[in-house]
Amino acid sequence: MIPELSNGSVLMKDPQRVQEILQSMLKAGSNTLQVISDFDMTLTRFSYNGKRCPTCHNILDNSKTISNECRLKLDLRILSCLLQLDHLLETYYPIEIDTSRSVEEKLPLMVEWWTKAHDLLVEQKIKKDELAQAVRESDAMLREGYELFFDRLHEQSIPLLIFSAGIGDILEEVIRQANVFHPNVKVISNYMDFDEFGMLRAFKGELIHIYNKREGALFNTGHFKELRSKPNVLLMGDSLGDLDMADGVQDMKNILKIGYLNDKVEERKQSYLDSYDIVLVNDESLEIPNAVLHYLT
Ligand code: C5P
Ligand code: MG
Repeated sequence: MIPELSNGSVLMKDPQRVQEILQSMLKAGSNTLQVISDFDMTLTRFSYNGKRCPTCHNILDNSKTISNECRLKLDLRILSCLLQLDHLLETYYPIEIDTSRSVEEKLPLMVEWWTKAHDLLVEQKIKKDELAQAVRESDAMLREGYELFFDRLHEQSIPLLIFSAGIGDILEEVIRQANVFHPNVKVISNYMDFDEFGMLRAFKGELIHIYNKREGALFNTGHFKELRSKPNVLLMGDSLGDLDMADGVQDMKNILKIGYLNDKVEERKQSYLDSYDIVLVNDESLEIPNAVLHYLT
């Protein structure tokens, strides 16, 4: 039906079911469709040329942003913050993807990670007008085929909700610089709160981390009410926590879930196959979501 689904990177537990969902969505028409996607490591690349790409939180800590030469010039306080951010990633990311621990066990540790990172960013007194440059100089990259993905959704007036436990200000900057922040895009994420001098003083609202996207979705009922006429959902994520992003959708008819399995493939394959309809293994492109959208629109 969709030739790209035979690609080597595509795994499906029940291809027949995928076909049925796709047919039902096609029949309902593209004006009933909405897309809900995670940001970090779903819309952005996980790695490039064998090197990990940064998440929103780690863009400010990226090697290019803070080059060694630059690091020497920085005052010790900032340098120490950056090193601590590095250290947090090394400590908590392995926990995030550890299959031997339960969600209950990981949850408090994930909250601890986000809280420590946000405190450190506030300590750094980041300025609002420094974000654009940090993003420009970082290694953050949207996945291959992103222009087609964003532009098609815009042209077809299909709403795209980016639901991210990353940092809203940074992710908006990434898509703005890529010229794809179209009016059909809405973002739910952690936003920075700047003081009157444009200095970061806190984060706004309730923290969104990888295990509370369900609460985040239910909190934003207004958004989903507006989209009541769009009960067919294409969901894209890279973490099992992303599966809850559509929990606010009203009167859902069909949902097709595409999951990127970027890391620890063998250990996590079965749980991804059990929860996502289509699993993409070590695939750095948006080819499959684009092929699905091409079929549906
Ligand atoms: O956009 P998304 O919801 O994927 O953003 C969350 C990701 O950000 C997590 O999967 C985690 O690996 C990463 N993260 C990070 N630094 C933090 C907290 C989360 O890189 N302090
Ligand atoms: Mg992610």
